[in-house]
Amino acid sequence: MEKQFLGNINFTIKNETVSESCPSNIALIKYWGKYENQIPANPSISYTLNNCKTNTGMEFFANEAFSVQTFLAGNEEKKFAEKIEKYFKNIEQYLPWILKGKYIIHTENTFPHSSGIASSASGFGAIAKCLMKLDEAFAGETTEEELLKKASFLARLGSGSACRSLYNGLVVWGNTKEVEGSSDLYAVAYPNEEIHSVFRSFNDWVLLIHEGEKSVSSTVGHGLMKTNPYAERRFQEAHENFTLLKNILKTGDLEGFIKLTEHEALTLHAMMMMSDPAFILMKTGTLEVINKIWDFRRITGLPLFFTLDAGANVHLLFPSDIEADKIKIFIEQELLPFTQKGGVVKDKMRF
Ligand code: DP6
Repeated sequence: MEKQFLGNINFTIKNETVSESCPSNIALIKYWGKYENQIPANPSISYTLNNCKTNTGMEFFANEAFSVQTFLAGNEEKKFAEKIEKYFKNIEQYLPWILKGKYIIHTENTFPHSSGIASSASGFGAIAKCLMKLDEAFAGETTEEELLKKASFLARLGSGSACRSLYNGLVVWGNTKEVEGSSDLYAVAYPNEEIHSVFRSFNDWVLLIHEGEKSVSSTVGHGLMKTNPYAERRFQEAHENFTLLKNILKTGDLEGFIKLTEHEALTLHAMMMMSDPAFILMKTGTLEVINKIWDFRRITGLPLFFTLDAGANVHLLFPSDIEADKIKIFIEQELLPFTQKGGVVKDKMRF
């Protein structure tokens, strides 16, 4: 129980409609492994995306029996409603009014479901923001800063990576000695003045190598770290990578950034391969693309590199102001053929 986030028990509820939008994010140092109550096994850092978002409208009907109805792009989603009901029950101590009414929630993503882009991150981020708007209306004013912090705290309880989506730029979740104010309970923005300009304007193009359901959910994936014999070393390495990254970000060491980001992505997949049961989430196309990127970098020296989520799709990262046009042509001509249906989601970092 987190005392600082306990809700005000003096509240006045009424019918209310709120809407919020929240972007997704892509992790550079990955969160993979967690303890009870969504406490991460290691600190993580992500870039918040600009175009890939969830837009959510929440209608609250005061003093009706507690129930949740959800619609995704206009279609009723009963499974999602069950998940949200459970989530609301779980966070009652932080929002004491939350079970005192009926909800109708409409939500839509600006990116295709099949992209594997974390809709749970933007989805729970948007829901947490809506809840905090209702909390302001029912239980009194808070500062913008406190509101965001509590929204991040609540989003984390829905989906760990969601807590990072509440802030722009580079965002840290999980306690690390390298970032002042960092916490296992909520995310904090990485201080802008500590980030070299080359890292402030970045593209993320997501190549859809494989469209469709992921073969391992992140819940199952995190669980596999409990018995992975390499887990402790991995958690320690994430801490070490923060120390490296801090210097990289400050000095503008793009080469160091590329090396660290790709290493993190491959480590995530290596962890899955070393789990019991084992999972190989990369497809042939994923490997082909990685090799093509490495060849391209060796031949041209241009800073195109990748990160991966827990799936086959490849996030192509490249700065906006170092020959980005040449890189874009290479992607379109040489990498697009490895996608299943020609799919690419063109996004950039939101700063
Ligand atoms: C590989 O945040 O989806 O994207 O907390 O169980 O909802 P839950 O997991 P989730 O895990 C994200 C894992 C990752 C890495 C990352 O985003 O840091």
